[in-house]
This record gives sequence, C-alpha cells and structure tokens, in this order.
Amino acid sequence: MKTFTRRETIGLLGAAAGAFVVRPAYAALPKLAKKDTYKVGFAQTESNNPWRLAQTKSMQDEATKRGWQLVYTDAAGSAAKQVADVRSMIAQKVDVILLAPREEKPLIPAVMEAKKAGIPMFLIDRNVDQTLAKGGEDYVAFIGSDFTKEGMQAAEVLTAAVGGKAKIIELQGSTGSSPANDRMAGFAAYIKDHPGMEIIASQSGDFARDKGRQVFETLYQAHPEATALYSHNDEMTMGAIAAMEAAGKVPGKDLIIASIDGTKDATQALIDGKVLVVVECNPKFGPAAFDAVVKYGNGETLEPRLVNTDRVFTKDNAAAYMPEAY
Ligand code: AHR
Repeated sequence: MKTFTRRETIGLLGAAAGAFVVRPAYAALPKLAKKDTYKVGFAQTESNNPWRLAQTKSMQDEATKRGWQLVYTDAAGSAAKQVADVRSMIAQKVDVILLAPREEKPLIPAVMEAKKAGIPMFLIDRNVDQTLAKGGEDYVAFIGSDFTKEGMQAAEVLTAAVGGKAKIIELQGSTGSSPANDRMAGFAAYIKDHPGMEIIASQSGDFARDKGRQVFETLYQAHPEATALYSHNDEMTMGAIAAMEAAGKVPGKDLIIASIDGTKDATQALIDGKVLVVVECNPKFGPAAFDAVVKYGNGETLEPRLVNTDRVFTKDNAAAYMPEAY
C-alpha cells in the first residue's frame, strides 16, 4: 500500500481518518510515462562562468551515461530568450523540461506554458517567484541549494573572523534572480544581530567577473573605509580581487572576503589567504536531476523542494577540495 508524506496530507480532500488523498494540485500536474530513455530539455541561463559550464557538463554527462537525448539551450543571459527556449522545447515535444530560471518573475510564463502543454517541469538550481508559481502545483519540484542558508553561513564565518566589526561592500548577483535575492536576505538576517557588521554599499555585479571588477572598483573608490567584501559568487570575487590588487591593496588583509560557489580560482585564493571563506553552491546537478525524473516517471510523489547538501570551505579544507573544484 502506498504511504504518503506529511506534505501530501496538507490540503487533503475529505480528511477521513486513514483515507489519505494526494493534494489535488499535485495530482493535476502533467504526468510522465515510465520509459527506459527520455528526451529531456535543459534550458540553461548563460554560459559565461565556470559554475554554469560545470552545471551544463554535469547534465550532458548524465544524459550520455543513461543514453537519454538532451535538448540543450543557452539563453545567453536573457530571460526573454530563455522563455523562447522553453517554448521551442514544448514545440519539440520533449518528455520533460529542466529549467534553470535566470530570474524569478520573467520565467513564470515558461513554467505555466509547459504545464498547460502537459510537459512536467523541474526547476534546476534557481527558483521562480513563489507567489506566482509553486513546486508540486505548477512545476514538479525545485532541485538546488539553500541560497538563504549560504548567505547566513558566509555572514557567520565573516563575523567570527572580524570580531563582529566590519564595513562591508556587497556584490550582488543578477538582479531579480533567486540566488541574489536569497543570498542578500540570508546575510542580512545573520548580521542584524551584530550591530558592528555594517553593509556600506551593495550593488549588482551580475554574477560576472568583469562586471564584478568594475562595480567593486567604483564602490571601493566611493568607500575607501571598507574592510570586508561579501560577494554572491566566486567570479565577481575574482574580479574584485583584481581591482583590489590594482589599487595596491592586499586581499585577505586590507579587505576580508566571503564568497560563494567553489570554483578553482576561488579555491586557490583560499589557499593563498586572499579569501576567508567560500560557501559551496554545487553545480553538479546531473545525477540528482535525472534521478528525480526517473522517480517522477515511476509515479513517486516528490517533495516540492529538494535541497542539495553544500559544504563550507576555508584555508583548512581548501586543498583537499581542490581536485573536485571546477
Ligand atoms: O544560481 C547559482 C548561481 O548562478 C551561482 O552561484 C553563480 O555562480 C551562477 O551564475
């Protein structure tokens, strides 16, 4: 007899004792037939950094390993193109769509159109606005990191290292994206109980190295009193380090740095003492995403949010992690 999770009992129809029914919204999601191989659409947001390249490689490797067909698109940093990419996948009648939504709101039409077309969708790594579309109702599930926790962990390690006192420049990720929103919120939630931890400037560097360099340079010129950098990803961190060094400053001494991801360059910067902490955001989604598709095709009920387990890297464990870095 099938057993049901606690979530499935929420919103039950007719709560007669023992007579559990799957939530109507979940039951109404597009179905996936059980097959040996699937034609999977993977709608990537951009390919301008090592994290995205590692994520794409992980999906391609997993498709090859299983003998599945992968229909891959790269939105090149445009939410509008990503919506068009999903429409093209719908037209090609893929079995299932894996979407890494660039931003929270503009990708809502893509989610709703896939549902209307009867194609199950999983959100990979980034989320959409939860007031407009929900896991287990409009798409099957979100699979990814807890970005809020990442922000809190970065804040916790930084706060301890600086004795609760820092003037912080924050480099945000892409405006309107779930990692930028949640990493900002998580960091702010942690430091609110530490009045000596002050964000003196915060601006988007669009998760990109050169933009991060330019934005940091401008913010640091305006705020030479800064003593720390909190950067939403390693690429912007590496850009900011270049700007610090060009200004004759010593990263790791003049500015203490907290970052997120786990790229090779940032791991080397940890080893070199330039970066204090890198909170991991693991891009290797292939196995988890494809396993989730298989489970859904087998008729299993999935939790609407499947959260990756991530680690925290400092100079103490950076060398051991380096062989895995990307
Ligand atoms: O969505 C995850 C974020 O997107 C990664 O931290 C970043 O490097 C990427 O572009």
